Amino acid sequence: MKTKHVIDLEDLSKSELMEIITLANQIMANPAEYADACKGKILATLFYEPSTRTQMSFKTAMLRLGGSVIGFDNPQNSSVSKGESLKDTITVVGGYTDIIAIRHPLEGAAKAASMYSAAPVINAGDGGHLHPTQTLTDVVTLYNEKGTLDNMCIGLCGDLKNGRTVHSLIKTMSHFKGNKFVLISTPELTVPQYIKDILNASSCHYTEVSGLKEAMPMLDMLYMTRIQRERFSSEAEYEKQKGVFVLDREKLLDAKRDLKILHPLPRVDEIAEDVDYDPRAKYFVQTVYGMYARMALIMTMLKDGDRTPMPRKFDTHNVKCKNPRCITTIEQYLPKRFRAVGGDMLLCRYCEERTLI
Ligand code: CP
Repeated sequence: MKTKHVIDLEDLSKSELMEIITLANQIMANPAEYADACKGKILATLFYEPSTRTQMSFKTAMLRLGGSVIGFDNPQNSSVSKGESLKDTITVVGGYTDIIAIRHPLEGAAKAASMYSAAPVINAGDGGHLHPTQTLTDVVTLYNEKGTLDNMCIGLCGDLKNGRTVHSLIKTMSHFKGNKFVLISTPELTVPQYIKDILNASSCHYTEVSGLKEAMPMLDMLYMTRIQRERFSSEAEYEKQKGVFVLDREKLLDAKRDLKILHPLPRVDEIAEDVDYDPRAKYFVQTVYGMYARMALIMTMLKDGDRTPMPRKFDTHNVKCKNPRCITTIEQYLPKRFRAVGGDMLLCRYCEERTLI
């Protein structure tokens, strides 16, 4: 693999992604053959934000590969509660372990961690920004359940603004040929501008609609998402959005027979429980694919064994990111890193927010 860290699934080339999907399927077909593949290696899971699937599937993946796991799932039980910086925590844990999976409520946190880690870092979700290993889970599911990643009409429904799984999935699926996107949300929860820019720059057609029922007949895949309560500025704002989109058996009457329904989970109320028994519902088997996907990713990243610390000095701009949820707002020692994206516009290298100079 050319990259040391996986912060965004875009860090992998399309052929590297396909190799990981193939490896995940090989492991799934013959798990015993891989039982010692990571013997003697240690994974750290640093979860600054709650998780069931991502944390447990990373741990299970490493244990099934014969490796070991350390870490925390509540930063209050670590020296983070005493005020330790992300940089210091990562520098130390990177010295103890062979690979790190980090989840953090702030956007760009995994990128920041990767700047100070001798061990490869995997982004296990950074605020409302990205969740590359969920996308890996989604593409392994789609590849197995549809037999292709091309020529699909992909509906994404719910909190498209704050749903990091949505952003990562759109980025990845926009690289496969013939895919079209139907973005189903309220006007307040549409995808961020940088995701629209990516779609506009790709050859993928997309439409934004406000009704799930009207979109249903054209979809090959429906990606339902929860309204991300924890990302709202107030409970009143959340209350306005919750319950707007609910997938039920009645809405599925107009759906294709070979539709695949995915959801990153956890579900709150956006999929009625009786949809679980519809053969098109794939969101529980999706979690199993996710464990094999993470096994394949860990194996691939450890194969190269790159433990070179990143250079400690980075260029810094005299500009502040305007995203209040960017990691640079809290971890203030971080160099202000931007990329020019045309005109007077800079893109924050941590959270991808655009800022005018
Ligand atoms: N899909 C997902 O990230 O689930 P968890 O928050 O439970 O890890």
